[in-house]
Amino acid sequence: MSKIFVLAIDGPAASGKGTIGRMLAEKYGLDYLDTGSLYRAVALQMLRAQVPLDSESSAEAIAKSLDLDLTSDPEIRSSRLAEAAATIAALPKVRAQLKVIQRQFAQRHPGAVLDGRDIGTVVCPDADIKLYVTASPEIRAKRRFLELQAAGSPLSEAEVLADVMARDKRDTERATSPLKPAEDAHLLDTSNLSIETAFGSAVDIIETHRG
Ligand code: DC
Repeated sequence: MSKIFVLAIDGPAASGKGTIGRMLAEKYGLDYLDTGSLYRAVALQMLRAQVPLDSESSAEAIAKSLDLDLTSDPEIRSSRLAEAAATIAALPKVRAQLKVIQRQFAQRHPGAVLDGRDIGTVVCPDADIKLYVTASPEIRAKRRFLELQAAGSPLSEAEVLADVMARDKRDTERATSPLKPAEDAHLLDTSNLSIETAFGSAVDIIETHRG
């Protein structure tokens, strides 16, 4: 691929989009950005600076000069940070600042895979290919439960399902850039697919539709 190639992947939490996105970036030699890590990094910087999460002007300033090293800080993966990230992700000025970072990332040669909630709809509406990766709430909760259990978490599967459904509600009902498939997105339901099969389906979609 000589021209810049941008692959936008959206979908709800625990749909498998991150794993599929990383595998596709590797296969096609593209950079990869987990855009949720940007929202989590802003939230981490706010919590560390003890800034109230509803202070939109402070959040905007932090997003504008974001320390990108924080996107690889293990602390951003905690459930406390997931909560805090969801709060600041509802602030339009934060989204506007992070859009700048995401677009710059997408414009670099040789191109990129970005995964998130609004990549195909808002961040990269002209992406070469858009995928919307989803799975039933029960299946996503089961996957997340098994991961958490392996990491020693005491949460029950029912608690994880309640959390997944609450996140879906927040992501889809947000006023600014809610989670929804772009009109030209290809839907990939991974409910009954292994990760290898889901990856294979994504490759088939890309091979069929890229110019
Ligand atoms: O995918 P994640 O759980 O790491 O995302 C963290 C939060 O950021 C979550 O509340 C959804 C939000 N988010 C968003 O609003 N837009 C994106 N492009 C990516 C994540």
